[in-house]
This record gives sequence, C-alpha cells and structure tokens, in this order.
Amino acid sequence: MQGCRACDNCFSKENKACIFNDDFNELASLMAESDVIIFCTPLYWYSFPTQIKAAIDKFYSFIIGKKDVPIKECMLLSCGELEDPHVFDGIVRSFELIAQDRGWKNRGHYLVNSVNEKGAISNTEHLQKIYDIGKKF
Ligand SMILES: Cc1cc2nc3c(=O)[nH]c(=O)nc-3n(C[C@H](O)[C@H](O)[C@H](O)COP(=O)(O)O)c2cc1C
Repeated sequence: MQGCRACDNCFSKENKACIFNDDFNELASLMAESDVIIFCTPLYWYSFPTQIKAAIDKFYSFIIGKKDVPIKECMLLSCGELEDPHVFDGIVRSFELIAQDRGWKNRGHYLVNSVNEKGAISNTEHLQKIYDIGKKF
C-alpha cells in the first residue's frame, strides 16, 4: 500500500477508491461492509508504522469520493518495546482525532508495554484479555 498522492481522483474510475491500484482498494471494499474497525499495530517511533499510516492516509478517498462507510465504532490495539506508558501518547491522540473526524465511536485502546522479542506477548495475559474484549464487540 502506498501513501495518498492527493490527486483527488478517488472513486472516479470503476468506482475504485484509489486510481493508483494497490491493496487499499480491497481494504476500502472491506470497510464498505464493516461495522467496526480495529487498528492493530506495533508502535513505531511513537506513532503508526508507515504501512498502517499509508492506509489511514487513503481514508481521504472517502471524503473526496463522498462515500459513507457503515463503520460505527473503532478501537486501537498497540504494543511497544519501552516501559514508559507515555510512549503511546502520540498514537492514542492521533487515533482519537481520527475517530472524532470520521464520527466513529471510540471504544478505547489496549496498549502493551515492554514487549519486543518475537513471541514475547505470548508469555503475558494480554492476548486472552484482548480476545475477551473482542468477543464483547
Ligand atoms: C522501526 C521501529 C520503531 C520502533 N519504535 C518504537 C517506539 O517508538 N517505542 C517503543 O516502545 N517501541 C518501538 N519499537 C519496538 C516495537 O514496537 C516492538 O518490538 C513491538 O513489540 C513489535 O510488535 P510486532 O512484533 O507485532 O511487530 C519500534 C520497532 C521498530 C522496528
């Protein structure tokens, strides 16, 4: 997925969200039939990694194309290496503003500090907790 080029041709051809064909068009189709969106991501430099940010940038196509998606609620799941809980301040604020902008009810966030090595989260209670939260959606 590449970032948005701000060409403003969203939904202008074959009802594709983006004329630069990449996986966002499939994501946009999925979003068009979803009630909920969960952002599930590692923390990169106190923010979203490039790959997730590229998808978020292309949410712009819904505005330019005047397309409503049925999403009503959203949640943020993230994990990071460092211990300080404040490392998530930036991504949480960004997520809150995106939710507000899109009119999606913010169902909150679940953040996990101090996980870095592959599989580290498996040794914690967090996956079960997130599974239980997911079941309530
Ligand atoms: C490019 C890069 C940037 C990162 N930036 C942060 C950071 O700002 N704060 C932090 O706590 N961890 C940071 N990390 C560590 C990851 O968030 C951490 O290893 C996480 O557990 C990776 O999750 P994953 O295995 O699901 O990809 C960074 C890792 C990479 C590769």
